[in-house]
Amino acid sequence: MSQRPGPAGPPNDAGWWRQAVIYQVYPRSFADADGDGLGDLPGVTSCLPHLADLGVDAVWLSPFYPSELADGGYDVADYRNVDPRLGTLDDFDAMVTEADRLGLRIMVDIVPNHSSDQHLWFQEALAAGRGSAARERYVFREGRGEGGGLPPTDWPSSFGGPAWTRVADGQWYLHLYAPEQPDFNWDHPEVREDFHRTLRFWSDRGVSGFRIDVAHGLAKDLAEPLRDLGADLSYQPDDLPEDGSHPLWDRDAVHEIYRGWRQVFDEYTPPRFAVAEAWVRPSRRTAYASPHGLGQAFNFDFLGARLNASQLRATIDDALADAREAGATSTWVLSNHDVVRHPTRYALPDHFTKQDIAAWLLTDGQDPRPDMDLGLRKARAATLLMLALPGSAYLYQGEELGLPEVTGLAREELRDPIWVRSGGTVKGRDGCRVPLPWTHDGAHYGFGTGEPWLPQPAGWGSYAADLQRGDADSVLELYRAALRLRRDLVVDEELTWAGSASQTESGLLHFTRTGGWHAVSNLSYQSAALPEGEVLLSSGPPADGQLPPWTTVWLRTA
Ligand code: GLC
Repeated sequence: MSQRPGPAGPPNDAGWWRQAVIYQVYPRSFADADGDGLGDLPGVTSCLPHLADLGVDAVWLSPFYPSELADGGYDVADYRNVDPRLGTLDDFDAMVTEADRLGLRIMVDIVPNHSSDQHLWFQEALAAGRGSAARERYVFREGRGEGGGLPPTDWPSSFGGPAWTRVADGQWYLHLYAPEQPDFNWDHPEVREDFHRTLRFWSDRGVSGFRIDVAHGLAKDLAEPLRDLGADLSYQPDDLPEDGSHPLWDRDAVHEIYRGWRQVFDEYTPPRFAVAEAWVRPSRRTAYASPHGLGQAFNFDFLGARLNASQLRATIDDALADAREAGATSTWVLSNHDVVRHPTRYALPDHFTKQDIAAWLLTDGQDPRPDMDLGLRKARAATLLMLALPGSAYLYQGEELGLPEVTGLAREELRDPIWVRSGGTVKGRDGCRVPLPWTHDGAHYGFGTGEPWLPQPAGWGSYAADLQRGDADSVLELYRAALRLRRDLVVDEELTWAGSASQTESGLLHFTRTGGWHAVSNLSYQSAALPEGEVLLSSGPPADGQLPPWTTVWLRTA
């Protein structure tokens, strides 16, 4: 890997990820090189210069493995291959070589909780019948009630409906997500060994790290009799017990699995890195981020927080304390492939909850009408705030273009299994997965010549990368400038709050980093006094010594 200065450090730096900026690619929606309407790996490779120019340190690819796309690729049929519609292993190697040349690291997504129902093992399990060794790799049980016609337990699927589906011979299998995503039995040694093989397979191909999907789900209590959940059917982090006693989620035994993975990671120089997607209580997050485990854990509290200075300050403090306790750094995320894009979230009334947003999506984003100018202004301010925080920032493709959520997709165009499984009561996540606009004109705004798998809305070209490049006021140039500056400004992992308590209460969030770097956010509808210092970058136009509403500036003092 080529030598490059900056927060991610030199090639063999074991801590390269600690303050890295990691860009998430959702491959099917990124760039389509072969014109079949699905983004692919050669498409990713051709756009890597855009990412190097943007200034990110690493690229994390959501699943590109063979998949029936029952859940956008999170239903993996073969963990050590590339979906033929997305390319070949040679294409993967070519992508790594190009990333290397550009000084970018590659991370891939590992989906260990469940496979696809098209996975060889699951097909074998179906064919082999009840009581067979092949069924032991998954979770098959007899049903309850007359003729075993009822599911074995009351466990719900995260996507709606029961977590059990009956097969032809009458047994039921467990799927905490879609029926096309059968859960593995992690008590089975072959399952454990196979994932070690997968981790080595991609590490040997030059991957620097992994994002671990649903990392808190693997170690289930499958002892007979299986336990019903009764009234406690929620899987939300705040509703899970603090002591790890839930039969399905966040059980302590999961960490034994990750200690084994750590041994695999440590076979490499530098050691491979992993970040856990674990929807657990904050107090339970540190175990996933341990240096003896995966190394880092996503913190979605920042994403879920309102743009309120006091609330954000508390959220940031908690995240930094948790990360410090774990020996890791915190992660910061504003958008990903599972949530409404943040300029749109911020365009909605401040008091809107997750449930309100889901209900609003069902109105196709019409009621109430979002204030998109305000949303973008707030998004720019939140971005500069996030990029000044110590830790790793995870960007989601298209946020550097200021893309909004696409809210007008017709019912019949939706692909997210949540839509069908919820009986048409939750619209789902397609609106943040619409293929990117690269050029303001041309076929499908430069995404590719084929009809995109999700339609791009009218006006999508106005967000195109080629229009924004070189325009100092564009979102793209804001991200580029911020990432360029950040490389020089990051010295260590310290953050010191500045400003009085009453200033914070009135909406001013001000902190400093070592070396005289200040980030000051005005998260209110009134202008505020701008602290002294040389203005390095501002999320919005400054107004004579004042910090305008919903603006973040980076300042430097001697
Ligand atoms: C994770 C992924 C999400 C997927 C789910 C099941 O939450 O981010 O996209 O649907 O896991 O694999």
